[in-house]
Amino acid sequence: MRASASMVQTDSPLIHAEYNHLMSTFLRFHDLTKSYYEGDVRRVVLQNAHAEFQSGEITAILGKSGSGKSTLLNLISGIDVADGGPIWVDGQNLTALSERDCTLFRRAQIGFIFQFFNLIPTLTVGENVSLPLELNRIPHIHKGAQDLLEAVGLLDRWGTFPEKLSGGEQQRVALARALVHDPLLILADEPTGNLDEETGMQMMSLLARLARERNRTLLIVTHSLETASHADRVLRLSHGELVSER
Ligand SMILES: Nc1ncnc2c1ncn2[C@@H]1O[C@H](COP(=O)(O)OP(=O)(O)OP(=O)(O)O)[C@@H](O)[C@H]1O
Ligand SMILES: [Mg+2]
Repeated sequence: MRASASMVQTDSPLIHAEYNHLMSTFLRFHDLTKSYYEGDVRRVVLQNAHAEFQSGEITAILGKSGSGKSTLLNLISGIDVADGGPIWVDGQNLTALSERDCTLFRRAQIGFIFQFFNLIPTLTVGENVSLPLELNRIPHIHKGAQDLLEAVGLLDRWGTFPEKLSGGEQQRVALARALVHDPLLILADEPTGNLDEETGMQMMSLLARLARERNRTLLIVTHSLETASHADRVLRLSHGELVSER
């Protein structure tokens, strides 16, 4: 549940400090570490990474291929598990939640545009976009999914299966699916990577506009400086750490 002014009924300065902090900082982590093993060889991807993201802030994350950008988004969403380091999202320590609670939290509060789309191949475009609404028992499913598909220019492909779509079309469906349930946190992994320049700019403008209108926190992994120009700030992932780009 989000903290609201009515929930703070005390004059305790400590509680007020925590409340103000939660209201401004939506996502934070520190000492975030992640390694993968290949046989006996340990490959360190994240090494004591730390960052804070404010409610409604749009942040672009740059970094070389293989630097750990997708890994970072997977950890923040709870899809993958860190070796160490707490991750606080909306006042919840994700790393302390059970797998089931983490899944429920992610389903309701996070919208993820995956680098490789991850559309469900046995569901049509319309069914893919409807799924977050169904899972979260949000009413007016058909209308909600239609509105988002119209916004990405693919309403006429409602009954099409993902394999019949181009890479860019799949990416736009993935964008619609990530936004349809109005999550508080949007994680976008190279959301314009498969789009031509003009469509990429349109999709990025849509993503940034919806995030700003709804005061949602948006992290965009990108290689495109054009895409990064929509962000409030730019971080770079380098040698396992996040550093400010400007
Ligand atoms: N499940 C895994 N098992 C083993 N190694 C992995 C796994 N996932 C990622 N890695 C390794 O972690 C490193 C970071 O991968 P990641 O996908 O996070 O990079 P990235 O910054 O997103 O790269 P790109 O820009 O190419 O998408 C890579 O060296 C990769 O091989
Ligand atoms: Mg990646």
